[in-house]
Amino acid sequence: MLLHIPEVLTRDELARIRRALDAADWTDGRETVGVQGAQVKRNEQLPDASPLKAELGKIVLAALERNPLFFAAALPLKILPPRFNRYAGGGEYGFHVDGAVMRLGGREQLRSDVSCTLFLAEPDEYDGGELIVSDTYGEHEAKLPAGDLIVYPSSSLHRVAPVTRGARLASFFWVQSMVRDDARRRMLFEMDTAIETLRRDGADAQAVLQLTGVYHNLLRQWSEV
Ligand code: NI
Repeated sequence: MLLHIPEVLTRDELARIRRALDAADWTDGRETVGVQGAQVKRNEQLPDASPLKAELGKIVLAALERNPLFFAAALPLKILPPRFNRYAGGGEYGFHVDGAVMRLGGREQLRSDVSCTLFLAEPDEYDGGELIVSDTYGEHEAKLPAGDLIVYPSSSLHRVAPVTRGARLASFFWVQSMVRDDARRRMLFEMDTAIETLRRDGADAQAVLQLTGVYHNLLRQWSEV
Protein backbone atom coordinates (compact mmCIF):
# COMPACT_ATOMS: atom_id res chain seq x y z
CA MET A 1 0.00 0.00 0.00
CA LEU A 2 1.23 3.44 -0.97
CA LEU A 3 -0.13 6.14 1.28
CA HIS A 4 0.33 9.90 1.25
CA ILE A 5 0.21 11.38 4.78
CA PRO A 6 -0.12 15.16 4.57
CA GLU A 7 1.33 17.76 6.94
CA VAL A 8 3.36 15.48 9.18
CA LEU A 9 5.58 18.41 10.13
CA THR A 10 4.32 21.80 11.32
CA ARG A 11 5.53 24.90 9.44
CA ASP A 12 7.82 25.69 12.39
CA GLU A 13 9.39 22.23 12.44
CA LEU A 14 9.88 22.30 8.69
CA ALA A 15 11.53 25.76 8.85
CA ARG A 16 13.84 24.61 11.64
CA ILE A 17 14.91 21.49 9.74
CA ARG A 18 15.42 23.46 6.52
CA ARG A 19 17.61 26.08 8.21
CA ALA A 20 19.80 23.31 9.60
CA LEU A 21 19.98 21.32 6.34
CA ASP A 22 20.72 24.36 4.20
CA ALA A 23 23.87 24.94 6.31
CA ALA A 24 24.80 21.25 6.78
CA ASP A 25 27.89 19.30 5.69
CA TRP A 26 26.88 16.39 3.46
CA THR A 27 28.65 13.15 2.70
CA ASP A 28 28.44 10.60 -0.13
CA GLY A 29 25.16 8.66 0.17
CA ARG A 30 26.93 5.38 -0.58
CA GLU A 31 28.06 5.31 3.08
CA THR A 32 24.92 3.40 4.05
CA VAL A 33 24.26 0.95 1.19
CA GLY A 34 25.51 -2.45 0.12
CA VAL A 35 27.09 -3.39 -3.20
CA GLN A 36 23.79 -3.48 -5.09
CA GLY A 37 22.77 0.02 -4.00
CA ALA A 38 26.21 1.58 -4.45
CA GLN A 39 26.08 1.02 -8.21
CA VAL A 40 22.92 3.08 -8.71
CA LYS A 41 22.94 5.59 -5.84
CA ARG A 42 24.14 9.13 -6.52
CA ASN A 43 23.16 11.49 -3.73
CA GLU A 44 24.40 12.98 -0.49
CA GLN A 45 23.43 12.26 3.11
CA LEU A 46 24.03 13.63 6.55
CA PRO A 47 26.81 11.42 7.98
CA ASP A 48 25.37 8.57 10.02
CA ALA A 49 27.28 9.62 13.14
CA SER A 50 26.48 13.34 12.88
CA PRO A 51 24.86 14.99 15.93
CA LEU A 52 22.72 17.07 13.57
CA LYS A 53 21.21 13.91 12.06
CA ALA A 54 20.29 12.70 15.56
CA GLU A 55 18.84 16.08 16.54
CA LEU A 56 16.69 16.48 13.42
CA GLY A 57 15.68 12.82 13.60
CA LYS A 58 14.13 13.46 17.00
CA ILE A 59 11.90 16.17 15.53
CA VAL A 60 10.72 13.73 12.85
CA LEU A 61 10.09 10.92 15.36
CA ALA A 62 8.08 13.26 17.61
CA ALA A 63 5.97 14.30 14.62
CA LEU A 64 5.29 10.64 13.74
CA GLU A 65 4.37 9.93 17.34
CA ARG A 66 1.45 12.35 17.24
CA ASN A 67 0.19 11.31 13.80
CA PRO A 68 -2.74 8.83 14.01
CA LEU A 69 -2.78 8.19 10.25
CA PHE A 70 0.88 7.10 10.29
CA PHE A 71 0.19 4.79 13.23
CA ALA A 72 -2.89 3.24 11.58
CA ALA A 73 -1.09 2.68 8.27
CA ALA A 74 2.32 1.46 9.48
CA LEU A 75 1.42 -0.14 12.86
CA PRO A 76 5.01 0.59 13.91
CA LEU A 77 6.94 -1.65 16.26
CA LYS A 78 10.40 -0.13 15.66
CA ILE A 79 11.52 2.86 13.60
CA LEU A 80 15.06 3.29 12.27
CA PRO A 81 16.45 6.69 13.34
CA PRO A 82 15.58 8.99 10.41
CA ARG A 83 18.28 9.81 7.86
CA PHE A 84 18.46 12.87 5.63
CA ASN A 85 19.47 13.09 2.00
CA ARG A 86 19.99 15.60 -0.77
CA TYR A 87 19.80 15.10 -4.52
CA ALA A 88 21.13 17.82 -6.86
CA GLY A 89 23.10 18.24 -10.10
CA GLY A 90 21.65 15.16 -11.82
CA GLY A 91 21.76 13.05 -8.64
CA GLU A 92 19.46 10.02 -8.69
CA TYR A 93 18.94 6.58 -7.19
CA GLY A 94 18.25 3.87 -9.77
CA PHE A 95 15.85 0.97 -9.25
CA HIS A 96 16.75 -0.99 -6.12
CA VAL A 97 15.17 -2.89 -3.27
CA ASP A 98 15.83 -1.80 0.31
CA GLY A 99 17.84 -4.06 2.59
CA ALA A 100 15.59 -6.47 4.52
CA VAL A 101 17.35 -6.35 7.89
CA MET A 102 19.09 -3.30 9.32
CA ARG A 103 21.16 -2.66 12.40
CA LEU A 104 19.29 -0.51 14.87
CA GLY A 105 22.15 0.08 17.28
CA GLY A 106 23.95 -2.34 19.56
CA ARG A 107 22.80 -5.86 18.74
CA GLU A 108 19.24 -4.87 17.93
CA GLN A 109 18.05 -5.37 14.37
CA LEU A 110 15.09 -4.03 12.43
CA ARG A 111 13.26 -5.83 9.64
CA SER A 112 12.21 -3.27 7.03
CA ASP A 113 8.49 -3.66 6.31
CA VAL A 114 7.51 -0.08 5.49
CA SER A 115 9.71 2.46 3.71
CA CYS A 116 9.08 6.15 4.41
CA THR A 117 10.10 9.35 2.61
CA LEU A 118 9.36 12.69 4.24
CA PHE A 119 9.70 15.47 1.67
CA LEU A 120 11.57 18.55 2.92
CA ALA A 121 11.69 20.71 -0.23
CA GLU A 122 8.68 22.12 -2.07
CA PRO A 123 8.04 20.53 -5.49
CA ASP A 124 8.70 23.84 -7.29
CA GLU A 125 12.20 24.11 -5.77
CA TYR A 126 13.54 21.34 -8.04
CA ASP A 127 12.93 19.51 -11.31
CA GLY A 128 12.80 15.71 -11.34
CA GLY A 129 13.32 13.88 -8.07
CA GLU A 130 10.07 11.91 -8.22
CA LEU A 131 9.98 8.78 -6.08
CA ILE A 132 8.83 5.99 -8.39
CA VAL A 133 7.52 2.82 -6.79
CA SER A 134 6.92 -0.26 -8.90
CA ASP A 135 4.45 -2.86 -7.65
CA THR A 136 2.04 -5.42 -9.13
CA TYR A 137 -0.26 -2.58 -10.25
CA GLY A 138 2.47 -0.75 -12.19
CA GLU A 139 4.55 2.32 -11.41
CA HIS A 140 3.45 5.07 -9.05
CA GLU A 141 5.06 8.49 -8.76
CA ALA A 142 5.25 10.73 -5.72
CA LYS A 143 6.57 14.27 -5.43
CA LEU A 144 4.90 15.77 -2.38
CA PRO A 145 4.76 19.16 -0.64
CA ALA A 146 7.42 19.77 2.00
CA GLY A 147 6.33 18.28 5.33
CA ASP A 148 4.31 15.46 3.69
CA LEU A 149 5.17 11.77 4.00
CA ILE A 150 4.82 8.82 1.67
CA VAL A 151 4.83 5.27 3.03
CA TYR A 152 5.18 2.19 0.80
CA PRO A 153 6.11 -1.48 1.16
CA SER A 154 9.84 -2.06 1.57
CA SER A 155 9.48 -5.14 -0.64
CA SER A 156 8.83 -2.96 -3.71
CA LEU A 157 11.37 -1.95 -6.34
CA HIS A 158 11.71 1.82 -6.37
CA ARG A 159 13.90 4.65 -7.61
CA VAL A 160 14.38 8.41 -7.39
CA ALA A 161 14.41 10.19 -10.76
CA PRO A 162 17.39 12.47 -11.57
CA VAL A 163 17.19 15.98 -10.10
CA THR A 164 18.01 18.32 -12.98
CA ARG A 165 17.43 21.68 -11.25
CA GLY A 166 17.59 22.79 -7.61
CA ALA A 167 17.89 20.35 -4.73
CA ARG A 168 15.58 17.68 -3.37
CA LEU A 169 15.84 17.34 0.40
CA ALA A 170 14.16 14.53 2.28
CA SER A 171 14.22 12.43 5.39
CA PHE A 172 13.95 8.68 4.94
CA PHE A 173 13.59 5.79 7.34
CA TRP A 174 12.17 2.32 7.76
CA VAL A 175 9.58 0.80 10.01
CA GLN A 176 9.34 -2.71 11.36
CA SER A 177 5.61 -3.14 11.59
CA MET A 178 3.72 -5.18 14.15
CA VAL A 179 2.11 -6.75 11.05
CA ARG A 180 4.75 -7.98 8.62
CA ASP A 181 2.46 -8.70 5.66
CA ASP A 182 1.54 -5.71 3.50
CA ALA A 183 -1.86 -7.12 2.45
CA ARG A 184 -2.91 -7.73 6.06
CA ARG A 185 -1.67 -4.31 7.11
CA ARG A 186 -3.71 -2.78 4.33
CA MET A 187 -6.90 -4.60 5.37
CA LEU A 188 -6.43 -3.48 8.96
CA PHE A 189 -5.89 0.08 7.81
CA GLU A 190 -9.03 0.06 5.67
CA MET A 191 -11.06 -1.44 8.49
CA ASP A 192 -9.72 1.10 10.97
CA THR A 193 -10.55 3.96 8.61
CA ALA A 194 -14.09 2.63 8.02
CA ILE A 195 -14.73 2.21 11.77
CA GLU A 196 -13.59 5.79 12.41
CA THR A 197 -15.97 7.05 9.72
CA LEU A 198 -18.88 5.06 11.15
CA ARG A 199 -18.13 6.35 14.64
CA ARG A 200 -17.96 9.95 13.42
CA ASP A 201 -21.21 9.59 11.50
CA GLY A 202 -23.03 8.33 14.61
CA ALA A 203 -23.61 4.76 13.36
CA ASP A 204 -25.20 2.11 15.57
CA ALA A 205 -22.95 1.92 18.63
CA GLN A 206 -23.34 -1.84 19.15
CA ALA A 207 -22.32 -2.58 15.56
CA VAL A 208 -19.34 -0.22 15.80
CA LEU A 209 -18.27 -1.95 19.00
CA GLN A 210 -18.47 -5.37 17.31
CA LEU A 211 -16.41 -4.18 14.36
CA THR A 212 -13.85 -2.64 16.72
CA GLY A 213 -13.64 -6.02 18.42
CA VAL A 214 -13.00 -7.74 15.09
CA TYR A 215 -10.26 -5.21 14.29
CA HIS A 216 -8.46 -5.88 17.55
CA ASN A 217 -8.87 -9.62 17.28
CA LEU A 218 -7.37 -9.61 13.78
CA LEU A 219 -4.51 -7.45 15.07
CA ARG A 220 -4.05 -9.94 17.92
CA GLN A 221 -3.83 -12.82 15.41
CA TRP A 222 -1.49 -11.11 13.00
CA SER A 223 0.81 -8.97 15.14
CA GLU A 224 4.30 -9.92 16.26
CA VAL A 225 5.40 -7.78 19.17
NI1 NI B 1 15.22 2.67 -1.25
